[in-house]
Amino acid sequence: MTQIRLGAVTAAVVLATAPVVNALANGVARLPVLGYNTWNAYACNIDENLILETANLMKSLGLQDAGYTHVNLDDCWAEKNRSAEGLLVPNSERFPSGFNNMTAQLHALGFEAGIYGDSGWLTCAGYPGSYSNELLDATTYQNWGFDYLKYDNCYIPFDDVIREGTFGKYQRMSDAIAELSLTSRQPPLIFSLCEWGWSQVWIWGAQVGNSWRVDGDIESNWPALSSIINLASFITQGTDFYGRNDMDILEVGNGNLTYDENKSHFTAWALFKSPLLIGTNLSAASPEIVEILSNREILAINQDPVVGTSISPFRWGLNADWTSNDSYPAQYWSGPSENGTVVMLLNTLDEPANMFFNLTESPWIRAGRQYAVRDLWTHTDNGTAVRNFTATDVPAHGVVALLLQDAGDEPAGIYPLCSVYYQCSSENGTLVDGS
Ligand SMILES: *[C@@H]1O[C@H](CO)[C@@H](O)[C@H](O)[C@H]1NC(C)=O
Ligand SMILES: *[C@@H]1O[C@H](CO)[C@@H](O)[C@H](O)[C@H]1NC(C)=O
Ligand SMILES: *[C@@H]1O[C@H](CO)[C@@H](O)[C@H](O)[C@H]1NC(C)=O
Ligand SMILES: *[C@@H]1O[C@H](CO)[C@@H](O)[C@H](O)[C@H]1NC(C)=O
Ligand SMILES: *[C@@H]1O[C@H](CO)[C@@H](O)[C@H](O)[C@H]1NC(C)=O
Ligand SMILES: *[C@@H]1O[C@H](CO)[C@@H](O)[C@H](O)[C@H]1NC(C)=O
Ligand SMILES: *[C@@H]1O[C@H](CO)[C@@H](O)[C@H](O)[C@H]1NC(C)=O
Ligand SMILES: *[C@@H]1O[C@H](CO)[C@@H](O)[C@H](O)[C@H]1NC(C)=O
Ligand SMILES: *[C@@H]1O[C@H](CO)[C@@H](O)[C@H](O)[C@H]1NC(C)=O
Ligand SMILES: *[C@@H]1O[C@H](CO)[C@@H](O)[C@H](O)[C@H]1NC(C)=O
Ligand SMILES: *[C@@H]1O[C@H](CO)[C@@H](O)[C@H](O)[C@H]1NC(C)=O
Repeated sequence: MTQIRLGAVTAAVVLATAPVVNALANGVARLPVLGYNTWNAYACNIDENLILETANLMKSLGLQDAGYTHVNLDDCWAEKNRSAEGLLVPNSERFPSGFNNMTAQLHALGFEAGIYGDSGWLTCAGYPGSYSNELLDATTYQNWGFDYLKYDNCYIPFDDVIREGTFGKYQRMSDAIAELSLTSRQPPLIFSLCEWGWSQVWIWGAQVGNSWRVDGDIESNWPALSSIINLASFITQGTDFYGRNDMDILEVGNGNLTYDENKSHFTAWALFKSPLLIGTNLSAASPEIVEILSNREILAINQDPVVGTSISPFRWGLNADWTSNDSYPAQYWSGPSENGTVVMLLNTLDEPANMFFNLTESPWIRAGRQYAVRDLWTHTDNGTAVRNFTATDVPAHGVVALLLQDAGDEPAGIYPLCSVYYQCSSENGTLVDGS
């Protein structure tokens, strides 16, 4: 243990003179990570067979082809005690072949592998945490063949031990990952903060990590999903290339969600540019669930190589703009993309509804132009929108996802002269209403 610790200290001294590594644009995770996480379907009941079976299902169900690259372990993979040398040890019953063997098999199947740890003394399920062992453990993860670390927030040391804020606590592992990357000359581990949003993590997360959970653990029912969507409506500025709000593991196919709720959940998470980690039991996943998770037009926007930002509300709808309401969040959302303006209409009501908007309510739409409408769920071209668009009969808790592409000037002679601005004027200063 002493020798390993000394090694880490030596590395730190050498690196003190090295240039500061910018955790934000460190070359990994420019785009959201797509993959699988074991927690929601299996909690602690994981083992190497399940991991490899899941990877094989990701492949055979076409999810790998659709873009899902990672298979990530969550908590409970470790022995309760470190080795005599102070190293983390895979649970010998659950992972008898060891992690080098398992990650080699995942890599052979074309996947990257992710692991889970904790910033405090223990993980949330009581396995060893990485506090005061950050560089050692990051090195262990990398040596085992993992390239991704989800880092939890349980069992925080007492104040007179840690003497850090939440930012500083996460910076410890962020610095260790940067150091390791310099010494090993391998890309930094993708660093996924699981801090639960208690300290405005969307303000500072990009300084230390690639993604940050914005809330406590997700649950597989609509009230839980709508409350996360409500939170998201106020913090979309947190997301861009390399650093993003993590809305948590996908519950598509879990709990008591309806078909439309499954679709709304996937759509919102994808268009928020959240990491998309599948959390359903793939052995039991219906073709409809796989189809939802494989919507290539929506995944393409999540993986947009040109625009890294999230969609944001342009109108709340039922409730006044900027109203926080866990049950009835914002309904009208848009954002730019490589190919045009993306619009999400979310029917938060418990009954079907028509959803109308004027195109220029979205800041990304050009006034005086008309737009070709692409429906990203029916995968159809739905004609040309002039001035406004109505989606009819959007189901309860259902979603409409559109791509609006500029189709040239709108037809001449349309009134009013300006579609939404109340102060619309001619060059000589005469307002259209004549005042
Ligand atoms: C694990 O460590 C604890 C305390 O350090 C010790 O009491 C316990 O006996 C150890 N367990 C095993 C299985 O070695
Ligand atoms: C992994 O372990 C399995 C079973 O223990 C063994 O058959 C296989 O040869 C090992 N593969 C590698 C790459 O070590
Ligand atoms: C689903 O479960 C949640 C939580 O138990 C509950 O609030 C909700 O009403 C349920 N929805 C349906 C449609 O049963
Ligand atoms: C949505 O997920 C739920 C999980 O409760 C499942 O029962 C339901 O059939 C799913 N609907 C589909 C096929 O989208
Ligand atoms: C996953 O689904 C399979 C097939 O339906 C089932 O046998 C298994 O028990 C499920 N596992 C869990 C943890 O629900
Ligand atoms: C833009 O359109 C091209 C051609 O259809 C497609 O390959 C690409 O994935 C789209 N990009 C986005 C961000 O949707
Ligand atoms: C949420 O919005 C609904 C519909 O407008 C309203 O009835 C309810 O009182 C609101 N809840 C809160 C907590 O404001
Ligand atoms: C929607 O735009 C059309 C022009 O394309 C216009 O005739 C119609 O009145 C508008 N609808 C509303 C409700 O503003
Ligand atoms: C787009 O067109 C398809 C095929 O006609 C239709 O099923 C779908 O509801 C339309 N989408 C919208 C948002 O109106
Ligand atoms: C949509 O545009 C029409 C025509 O300019 C206007 O009367 C209406 O108030 C607008 N609605 C919204 C929600 O902006
Ligand atoms: C200002 O311009 C409008 C047309 O754009 C015209 O109808 C109006 O007569 C002009 N007013 C003056 C005072 O020139």
